[in-house]
Amino acid sequence: MSTALTRRQRPNRGDELELTIDSLAFGGNGVARHEGYVVFVIGAIPGDRVRARVTRPKRDYAEAIVVDVLEPSPERIPRTAPHPGVPWQVLPYERQLEIKAQQVEEALRRIGKLDGFAMEPIVPAVETWRYRNKMEYSFGNDDAGELVYGFHAPGHWERIVPIEDCLIASERSNVVSRQVLAWCRSRGLVAWDRRTHTGLLRNLVVREGRRTGQIQVRLVTMPGALDVDGLAEAVDCDGLLWTQFDGVGETTALGETELISGSDYLDEEVNGLRVRISPHAFFQTNTEMAEKLYALAGEYAALSGFERLYDLYCGIGTIGLTMAPRASELWGLELIEPAIADAISNARLNEIDNAHFFAGDVRVALRELVKEAGTPDVVVVDPPRAGLSTKVVRRIIDSSPKRVVYVSCNPTTLAPNAAQLVEAGYSLSRVTPVDMFPQTPHIECVALLERG
Ligand SMILES: C[S@@+](CC[C@H](N)C(=O)[O-])C[C@H]1O[C@@H](n2cnc3c(N)ncnc32)[C@H](O)[C@@H]1O
Repeated sequence: MSTALTRRQRPNRGDELELTIDSLAFGGNGVARHEGYVVFVIGAIPGDRVRARVTRPKRDYAEAIVVDVLEPSPERIPRTAPHPGVPWQVLPYERQLEIKAQQVEEALRRIGKLDGFAMEPIVPAVETWRYRNKMEYSFGNDDAGELVYGFHAPGHWERIVPIEDCLIASERSNVVSRQVLAWCRSRGLVAWDRRTHTGLLRNLVVREGRRTGQIQVRLVTMPGALDVDGLAEAVDCDGLLWTQFDGVGETTALGETELISGSDYLDEEVNGLRVRISPHAFFQTNTEMAEKLYALAGEYAALSGFERLYDLYCGIGTIGLTMAPRASELWGLELIEPAIADAISNARLNEIDNAHFFAGDVRVALRELVKEAGTPDVVVVDPPRAGLSTKVVRRIIDSSPKRVVYVSCNPTTLAPNAAQLVEAGYSLSRVTPVDMFPQTPHIECVALLERG
């Protein structure tokens, strides 16, 4: 039943509204208007008429989740899999690309008030399914109470949608995940209960070297007993790790990690580099598209062999190392120490001897880096979704590079950062979106800012 709302009456949590979806917001939710309110609707696409349940009513807008599609958008296609991680699977792939390109351009024009840049065609994904090299599942129970792993149901932090054949992971990765599940079931292990904070099994992280064929498995549990030899026997992988974490948050980044068997890092190849990746280090989750992204960043950097290159937020060093042979020197900065240890090993492994890597927070360590290394000619930045703080942008401006190559996973934070650089005399010359995450609303792009 939909609730009749009088004008100015704010919807309450749990109200069901009938809505027509006009557009898609950044982040991928459908946008509808109801009685003067904007409602962001999870699971809806433009042209849908839906019944949606309000999950978060706010003063000026509400968030809601689709309960029923009353009239499907003419653009809708049948979904491939019941999978909460791929909400855009109901849009044809060409349309997904079109929307992503539009959203990048719109963010730069509307949020950044930028103009005069070349908006280059979006680079489509090599694989539109089974492209991810890293999966992070949560353990839970199905309706029959059986142990499962999968993803959180949209809008439900405690409910897990079971996924045994995840269509964005490779078949090999899924085989290994199922081996872990079968073993845990055979031992009668219990999922961690997110309400009561009891139980053992929290998450399963499976990483794959797409070029090397290696598989790394990390089981995340509450502190407790685990028959590690039995687990190692049951799971066919190149490295098996166990993380024990007793916090209440849903994270795989914290806790104490120990190696159970095999190697504690994963080998991979990217753009001709051989790299090692530690369990807690970031690596682009789509290897094939990381190669395209890095090649594009290299083209934008336009190195001639004489430049001092900074790679900020460098992770395991991959972007900078792919460019190092065309630079005079490379200086990388990254927060996570094991990632920097990997970056140093990766330079050595590939016989790159003009690279220097430091662990530190860009917000405070960039100034030190300039003192130590000298000012850069070219700066590559690849920050997390929150983008750069105005202070970091200011420090980059103060270091006066000729070019800034900005690799962004969030155009809404790229836009104000680029605007600040433009305000300081840089011009935004080229922008290319790259589709790293088909079937999802996530957008990656590379932007080139040049000193005027
Ligand atoms: C999007 S990833 C990019 C990594 C790398 N460029 C790559 O292509 O694999 C962002 C990286 O920034 C690091 N990071 C996050 N906040 C940071 C900070 N304040 N200072 C330095 N590095 C940070 C993260 O650990 C992560 O490795």
